Amino acid sequence: MSENAEKVAVAVLGLGEMGSALAGALLDAGYQVTVWNRSKDKAEPLVAKGAHQAATPEAAVGAAEVVIVNVKGGAAATELLGTAGSVLPGRTVVDLTDGTSEQSRATGQLVTAHGADYLHGQIMTIAPAIGSPDAVVFYGGSTPAFDRHQALLRVLGGRATLVSPDPGESVLYGMAVHDIMWGLLNGFLHAAALLGNAGIQIGDFTKHAEPSLAALPSLFPMLADEIDRAEFATPYGALEHHLPSIDDLITESRARGIDTNLPNHTRALVAEAINAGHSHDSYARLVQRFSRG
Ligand SMILES: NC(=O)c1ccc[n+]([C@@H]2O[C@H](COP(=O)([O-])OP(=O)(O)OC[C@H]3O[C@@H](n4cnc5c(N)ncnc54)[C@H](OP(=O)(O)O)[C@@H]3O)[C@@H](O)[C@H]2O)c1
Repeated sequence: MSENAEKVAVAVLGLGEMGSALAGALLDAGYQVTVWNRSKDKAEPLVAKGAHQAATPEAAVGAAEVVIVNVKGGAAATELLGTAGSVLPGRTVVDLTDGTSEQSRATGQLVTAHGADYLHGQIMTIAPAIGSPDAVVFYGGSTPAFDRHQALLRVLGGRATLVSPDPGESVLYGMAVHDIMWGLLNGFLHAAALLGNAGIQIGDFTKHAEPSLAALPSLFPMLADEIDRAEFATPYGALEHHLPSIDDLITESRARGIDTNLPNHTRALVAEAINAGHSHDSYARLVQRFSRG
């Protein structure tokens, strides 16, 4: 059997920036790909590369064993798969559309009710990195489907991992990474505004501060352990030691005319925990404040 004959037929529904990259990577890897997009012209570059263009979502699904869905919004993905419900039985749906955990579970229920397997994948990279061995995709859903189609899934992102049988959990993994990213980016950009105001090149800062910046992610496993054990007592770096440094940052920012909303918010969180009697606890104690909503 030739390599191509072993590869399952794939349909890709949704050919925006990401869907086109997904279909392109599968074509490059020698898969037989049927594509469908609401606006038909977006299929043209993929048809030129060897894709077959289906006239309807049902026709695309009917031509494939694995159905990849990548549109804008979880609600659109659910609606699209609903229209192809009659041809879903026996297939595997890989939904790579971002949404909420509830939306991916709802889509999963719709798909499995029609007799198909369901995987939700949370893509953790931008479109040009699709197909790279380093591209991360968190999957949740059917373990047999993930095992059966691992080779295909690794064509899309080399670091494809099944994190849970619950599709909603893969959504939450992706959301958590974004949550952390925005926190770090906001901190970095506030710091950049402060340094820039003082005439310091940000590139010089990142070069000289590289060991301190690179050490930040190493804090996560330690914080995770404290949070999982709900044990926050610490001999070093307790909340009481954070407060004076945050106050210095606020004073410096104010003196330079730099926005203080971000450090003010941090100060309020730390001060609240200290006032509640947690001054000797580690920074991880603040998770309880966020958990309260
Ligand atoms: N782009 C990235 O780098 C990236 C990275 C990670 C994750 N993602 C995720 O991938 C998904 C697609 O993103 P994208 O960047 O490719 O978006 P995009 O370029 O804006 O394309 C959106 C796609 O969704 C289709 N669509 C929107 N509403 C629809 C509906 N009601 N019914 C059917 N099709 C509909 C569009 O069809 P038309 O062409 O007809 O408008 C188009 O194919 C999103 O969930 C996004 O969060 C994207």
